[in-house]
Amino acid sequence: MSVFLPNSPQALAITNLFIILLLMGAAIFLLVTGLVLYMILRFRARPGEAEPRQIFGQRRIEVIWTAGPIILIGIIFGLSVSTMQKADPPVNQAQPDLIITGYQWWWDVRYPKSGVATANEIHIPTGRPMLVELRSGDVIHNFWVPQLSRKLDLVPGQPNHLWLESDKAGTFLGACGEYCGTEHAWMRLRVIAQPPAEFDAWLQQQAQVPTPPTGLAAQGAQTFQQLTCANCHAIAGTPAQARFAPDLTHVGSRQTLAAGVLTDTPENLAKWLKDPNSVKPGTLMPNLQLTDAQVGALVAYLESLK
Ligand code: CUA
Repeated sequence: MSVFLPNSPQALAITNLFIILLLMGAAIFLLVTGLVLYMILRFRARPGEAEPRQIFGQRRIEVIWTAGPIILIGIIFGLSVSTMQKADPPVNQAQPDLIITGYQWWWDVRYPKSGVATANEIHIPTGRPMLVELRSGDVIHNFWVPQLSRKLDLVPGQPNHLWLESDKAGTFLGACGEYCGTEHAWMRLRVIAQPPAEFDAWLQQQAQVPTPPTGLAAQGAQTFQQLTCANCHAIAGTPAQARFAPDLTHVGSRQTLAAGVLTDTPENLAKWLKDPNSVKPGTLMPNLQLTDAQVGALVAYLESLK
């Protein structure tokens, strides 16, 4: 029911329009069904009664039922245009604050002004509209966080834009809203709205290159670079710079793994690394047949990336 609990000026405008249209539709439904029921009862055939007088055409009624809907559609058009002005960013805008790219089945999140990259969890400051550019890396996805913004497709080769804003701090859940393959249902995302100072601190922390690990984590870092992990993932400050899978520079500071399937704990990360397909059937993350020792070292490394 979160659609009815808007938490941004954009979502409020959309919810208001939705409620107005719902009430208009309900009124028309009641009027039409009421009239039909009345006619059925009032003018039903009674035994022994003569056939009523037959008539054709009634100019006044026809003008009313033609003009009425035209006026209604005109009102709906005006309300829609005014809602779009509140909910949508202007067409020609400067550099976006955020670039979100949909992949099967996760979200790549980048803050171009600071170079920060993350995945599936979008941090925003409260009370400030963030201009988001939506892209797709493969098929059509759909960005939808009902409490904060409109629903908008991520189309390959066609960047789309929306405002993402939150009135108050909190975590707002979203999902991919367009069927995009096996794990469409597990292409979840969350928007974490923070007071501006807290957001700035988060951004600054995410922009930092992780300090070189020690002990078991250092072993894990070596394993990460030697195996094929580095062919798909990126970790700032290391040779791994590929962009085919989520950026892992600060993966240890995230709340979930595999786009919302698991909470981010060492046990769950180990389960995921051992057999990704048993956790998320269809995922493009391969099973590398890791030994328990390799998994242990990788978990120590990845969880150290706060
Ligand atoms: Cu991406 Cu459904």
